[in-house]
Amino acid sequence: MMHVVLAHETDFAGWRTAARSLAPAGVQPQDVVWSVREGADLLAVPAPPPVGAASFSVPRALLELAETAVQARDPERFALLYTLLFRVHAGERHLLDQATDPTVHRVSGLARSVRRDTDKMRAFLRFREVVEPEGTRHVGWFEPEHYILEANAPFFVRRFATMLWSILTPYRSAHWDGETLSFGPGADRTQVPDDDALEAYWRAYYRSIFNPARLKVAAMTSEMPRKYWKNLPEAAAIPTLIRTAQQRTAAMVEQTPMPSRPPRKSAPLPVPEGQPAGLAAIAQEAARCRRCPLWERATQTVFGEGARDAAMMLVGEQPGDQEDLAGRPFVGPAGQLLDRALQEAGIDRTRLYVTNAVKHFKFEPRGKRRIHQKPDSGEIAACKFWLDQELAEVSPRLTVLLGASAARAVLGRAVTIWRERGRAIPLSANATAFVTVHPSFLLRLPDEAAKRHEYAAFVRDLREAARLAG
Ligand code: URA
Repeated sequence: MMHVVLAHETDFAGWRTAARSLAPAGVQPQDVVWSVREGADLLAVPAPPPVGAASFSVPRALLELAETAVQARDPERFALLYTLLFRVHAGERHLLDQATDPTVHRVSGLARSVRRDTDKMRAFLRFREVVEPEGTRHVGWFEPEHYILEANAPFFVRRFATMLWSILTPYRSAHWDGETLSFGPGADRTQVPDDDALEAYWRAYYRSIFNPARLKVAAMTSEMPRKYWKNLPEAAAIPTLIRTAQQRTAAMVEQTPMPSRPPRKSAPLPVPEGQPAGLAAIAQEAARCRRCPLWERATQTVFGEGARDAAMMLVGEQPGDQEDLAGRPFVGPAGQLLDRALQEAGIDRTRLYVTNAVKHFKFEPRGKRRIHQKPDSGEIAACKFWLDQELAEVSPRLTVLLGASAARAVLGRAVTIWRERGRAIPLSANATAFVTVHPSFLLRLPDEAAKRHEYAAFVRDLREAARLAG
């Protein structure tokens, strides 16, 4: 039996060195015991590989999967990963494509769970200010499900490069002094100050964007799970907001003058001094958005644009290649088709507000091209933060949802387009949604007859939308 003792819980380098040495030596997975050194420290040097056989090259996909799954809080992760690597080395080169293989399935599940945890950390970590002799330090407390701090610390360095900050978790802490990133032991919640100006800001901000008429507790708790609430300053307001939602909705409806258009619902955002109010301020804030990792590759945030008092809002999926470069929604091929259809339906685009469910371009580089990738539900949920503010500011009578991603974002559930398209779906007392296809769907249709048929149906949908928007 071989014993490999790794330096710490996320010692990927140690695991890789040992595994690359063990597999060519023919050491069977069941003959290796993997463990982490007691009282492990990040600076500790990993154990040397137990046998000195020649190493071999490991497929990139397996290394990437291993790098993520190694962060999972599962004591068997090192052994599972070694099993995969051993089998790939033994000749199963396409093992990772076999999604139903029990080990592949289990490791992929771990990686997925780590990615979810990562998204939550990036979205829900909140800093509080602590004044120190060398300046103000921002201290954040987070309780991750997995060992994700080390892999995520560089993300926070990039995002908050000019701040001094510390992120404390129960198993380890990370510290940035403006130049160097270091790690220390875990901490506990009491080491983070309770209240400060930032906390008050987050609470006021959350209250201002909370729309009681759109309250869906299940959707809300799936996007912002309850376990994170205790560390989110703004979440302190949630129970009261939920409790009083009915009253507040009734009050809102009572205040609605009929039959003319209702006044704006939301209280104004607490805008930092010296910044423009309303959509412009939100767009400025969104330009620095780091709520999900999509910003890292995209050129810029593509925020919505159009009439501030539009009766109809169009929501697409996400900017495409050309929108990403131009910084404006729907200006590429799908946008041109949309423009043509709007014109045919007698709708003036300048009277609309046009935006996307996700504000950064998600793509896969392929040679010189950037191939569009569908945003996942985590990215849509993270970006809903901005869409909600656009909806609250513009307060459109009708929100046209172009395709499944937009429908998921606004309705908070998976939507089958052909089943729900073309009819009014109530959102609140004075707001309605309307589902239709995404213009890219028309561009992708292979034959001309189908294209013509679907285009005509799309124009019909837009006409009906215009009628509903009045
Ligand atoms: N597709 C979208 O969904 N939005 C755009 O802005 C462009 C293409």
